[in-house]
Amino acid sequence: MKEIQRILICGAGMMGKNIAFVFASNPKYSVLVYDVQETDLAAGIRNNAGPMLEDQVLDEAELERRLARISFTTDLDSDGVREADLVIEAVFENMEVKQNLFALLEARCRPDAILCSNSSVMSPSEISAKMARRERFVGTHFWNPGHLIPLVEVVKSDASSDEVARTVMEVLASVGKRPVLCKKDVPGFIANRMQHALWREAISIVEHGIADAETVDEAVRYSFGLRLPKVGPLENADMVGTDLTYSIHSYILKDLEDSHEPSPLLKRLRDEGKLGFKSGEGFRTWSKEETSEETSELNDYLIRMLDDQGALRGARAARWGGKGGGSA
Ligand SMILES: NC(=O)c1ccc[n+]([C@@H]2O[C@H](COP(=O)([O-])OP(=O)(O)OC[C@H]3O[C@@H](n4cnc5c(N)ncnc54)[C@H](O)[C@@H]3O)[C@@H](O)[C@H]2O)c1
Repeated sequence: MKEIQRILICGAGMMGKNIAFVFASNPKYSVLVYDVQETDLAAGIRNNAGPMLEDQVLDEAELERRLARISFTTDLDSDGVREADLVIEAVFENMEVKQNLFALLEARCRPDAILCSNSSVMSPSEISAKMARRERFVGTHFWNPGHLIPLVEVVKSDASSDEVARTVMEVLASVGKRPVLCKKDVPGFIANRMQHALWREAISIVEHGIADAETVDEAVRYSFGLRLPKVGPLENADMVGTDLTYSIHSYILKDLEDSHEPSPLLKRLRDEGKLGFKSGEGFRTWSKEETSEETSELNDYLIRMLDDQGALRGARAARWGGKGGGSA
């Protein structure tokens, strides 16, 4: 595997900060963050790591060690850009902005530097379309919040080399992430295809008066949702048997939602300004207190669950007295 030590993150927004924090968990890496705008990177990272400190899965000393491994620049001509071994782009979700940035990076980075994009929906083949050395590019889709959710989808473009994808997966594993390989450049990659297939059905159930939104969420939370952290859908299908799965599908699939357009109910909510947490009403109504409670409870839940699984790199070590780098 190509030796990777110097990581460059482009974009110091919500995702870029968290990705920098993740890479800094391994002392092997030095992390440079580049943004077009000056920003107090350390303050932003501290703020995002706040709930981990409160839940005592991260201590101040470990946070300081990580911050010491991260530097910031607004200068794309700096040595750190020229010397980077691996670059992760996390700038605005705009094709032209991304393509232009990769042109600037290709003109500056070493020819063997690996270039990645954190785009959540844009095609890696299209983002890298104008690059001269397209084989060294892959998508690396971190999930939000990037410092907590273990999954990173490594998405091959129509030109990414297997070796580059393998190297990126090894680097991600070395900072405690759970990389998965998406072998084809398809919209939604792997996990969002499944997530939105579920959301489409959930919305359809409400739209057709089968159950209200609260009931739909309860039905998931107290049934197969409980199993999901332990068994994935295909393991579950094997558990019950492919024969049973086949007969269930023969009976039910023709009745499930298969619309290729967003649902009319979703469109109506959007058009009426019922935007969910942002406006206080979406599929359900939300008070200000409820929205902040839900958000902080979700953060606490993720931190506790991932800590129990040993999935917060460096965190358990911090709690147990700062020995080593935690589980990878
Ligand atoms: N927000 C999410 O939930 C989420 C989840 C997964 C992936 N992503 C992807 O990550 C990327 C970043 O998302 P975000 O939410 O962090 O965005 P953000 O708006 O919080 O941050 C973007 C940052 O990029 C900087 N920037 C813009 N143009 C730049 C350029 N040409 N060079 C350098 N820096 C530039 C901005 O100044 C800003 O600091 C997007 O591609 C997005 O699709 C976002």
